[in-house]
Amino acid sequence: MTMRLVLVGPPGAGKGTQAKIICARLGIPQISTGDMLRAAKAAGTLPKALMEQMASGGLVPDDVVLGLVDVRIEAPDCRSGFLLDGFPRTIPQATGLDSVLVKHDTELDVVLAIDVAKELLVERAVFRRTDKRTGQIYHLKYNPPPADAELEHRGDDQEDVVNNRIDTYEAMTAELLPFYEKRGMLKRVSGVGTVEEVTKRVFSALGIS
Ligand code: AP5
Repeated sequence: MTMRLVLVGPPGAGKGTQAKIICARLGIPQISTGDMLRAAKAAGTLPKALMEQMASGGLVPDDVVLGLVDVRIEAPDCRSGFLLDGFPRTIPQATGLDSVLVKHDTELDVVLAIDVAKELLVERAVFRRTDKRTGQIYHLKYNPPPADAELEHRGDDQEDVVNNRIDTYEAMTAELLPFYEKRGMLKRVSGVGTVEEVTKRVFSALGIS
């Protein structure tokens, strides 16, 4: 099934978790600007100023993430659809994405927001661990990793930084969600419940049977 979609949600909402399930089901690539920035950091190609912005829970400049997405969308595996995870986050990113899509003669089908109350987000992020070999996302309490996983704890998953990321998200979505709602493209699902329960809501909102 061809689909071009955006996943929006606060830190710890489950975007990455649901993105992997949707992409496996639809056979489309996941384009996560957070993962791309972390890969650049690991490769030593992310400028120090941007590392500091990420580490404090702020956003990196719009032109940086737009450049990453513009290049990634050109790849052949994006011809039959893609899922943008955590991008766009600002109105300049959203209008920049419009231009990128026009350039590639394509358009978005849907923007899906995953809603989770702030009280649950900090615990989800602080106890998140990722297997660095597979990229699989775990939670020490809700989705424990297997014994042989090689676990990483993200540097920006410290409680004070998570709180800054949530504040940044709240400020940004005040404009971004109405932008897509006015276009009739926005769907919203609750991200509370088990991963499987959320996936059911997500598939139903996207019309995936
Ligand atoms: P990014 O990597 O995009 O982080 P984020 O948006 O803060 O989102 P997270 O990855 O923290 O959470 P998620 O919603 O994917 O949750 P997950 O599925 O892992 O961005 C990081 C930074 O990069 C930003 O702060 C910014 O600096 C920069 N950046 C990135 N994109 C940018 C952009 N467009 N513009 C500017 N700057 C940008 O789940 C979280 C945990 O909860 C896991 O442990 C998981 O196992 C667990 N979990 C998931 N679902 C459930 C459930 N239903 N019940 C219980 N636990 C669950």
